[in-house]
Amino acid sequence: MLSGVIRPQRRVLEMNGNVLDIVGLKKYFELKKDRLFSKPKYVRAVDGVTFSVGEREVFGLVGETGCGKTTIGRLVVRLERPTEGSIFFQGTDIAGLAGGELKKFRRKMQMIFQDPYASLNPRMTVSQWVVEPLRNYQMGTPEEMADRTLKALEDAGLRPVEEYLERFPHELSGGERQRVSIARALVVDPAFIVADEPVSMLDVSIRAGVMQLLLGLREKYGMAFILITHDISVARYMSDRMAVMYLGKIVEMADTEGVIKEPLHPYTRALIKAVPVADPTRERTPLPLTGEMPSALERPSGCVFRTRCVYATDICAEREPSLVEVKDGHMCACHLVERGEI
Ligand SMILES: Nc1ncnc2c1ncn2[C@@H]1O[C@H](COP(=O)(O)OP(=O)(O)O)[C@@H](O)[C@H]1O
Ligand SMILES: [Mg+2]
Repeated sequence: MLSGVIRPQRRVLEMNGNVLDIVGLKKYFELKKDRLFSKPKYVRAVDGVTFSVGEREVFGLVGETGCGKTTIGRLVVRLERPTEGSIFFQGTDIAGLAGGELKKFRRKMQMIFQDPYASLNPRMTVSQWVVEPLRNYQMGTPEEMADRTLKALEDAGLRPVEEYLERFPHELSGGERQRVSIARALVVDPAFIVADEPVSMLDVSIRAGVMQLLLGLREKYGMAFILITHDISVARYMSDRMAVMYLGKIVEMADTEGVIKEPLHPYTRALIKAVPVADPTRERTPLPLTGEMPSALERPSGCVFRTRCVYATDICAEREPSLVEVKDGHMCACHLVERGEI
């Protein structure tokens, strides 16, 4: 929720207690084509997304593969540069920053990746890997760096910590590797973490442990999280609020229980129907999705979801629905929901 006043000239927001205010964020990737014979084509990976993340809030980004979740994560920690839009981090727009200006903010925003096997350096021990960011940012004396490293590993649940320090990634389980990645993010004391599918490659038996760990860290370190997941039950477990994405756009956004118990958008209703998280006592209309998700290159006119929507009517092809507040803080982008027709 944007309670601040945007002043584009100054590129700062009034203090509003949010860690992040994302406004009209877009990322179009140009596909490399032979420019001589064809016009350049763009994948609209993120197509005008606005949301905020409050202090200590876990904000879930949910949707099927390819809807633009990872791209948002990479934009927010500025691994990618946006095509358009603003990313206010504690009030300062970091969307256009580069070099030394950007470096001032980098440490405060960390990302944890999906694949615990690919995200560690196979030639570095656990202690070398976790202390490295402290060296890069020259954070403290060698003794302070050692202390911080031990604390981060312990806080990530790798105990007794001495048993892990000299191990290489191949000597760790998947869950332990993910905890090492978490320790490396924690060690620099970030203001927020983007966790991109943090448990989807882990055995089901150890997922709950890693999810609880992340939630505990939010309290202990006072951090905010963007939780990216294709699995709405993971978002339900972890997030305070969530946004449901479809083809680069947010189609619904509300507090988590609002989305789960009273999903408004036909896409969210279908997602919830597909996983056993819904309240079994409530009657639900069957909502099969028709067809496949269209390619990000061949976007439908009007509403991006209409080609798979069982309710779609003429207006859905003609006009794009805006994300509007349908009831208290519950936002939805659907003509029919807005008119109270479904
Ligand atoms: N570097 C890139 N170049 C071109 N297309 C990309 C690139 N990164 C992502 N995309 C495309 O952008 C869309 C969104 O991708 P992504 O953000 O990875 O989605 P998600 O994380 O939700 O699965 C997809 O169509 C993907 O193919
Ligand atoms: Mg992804």
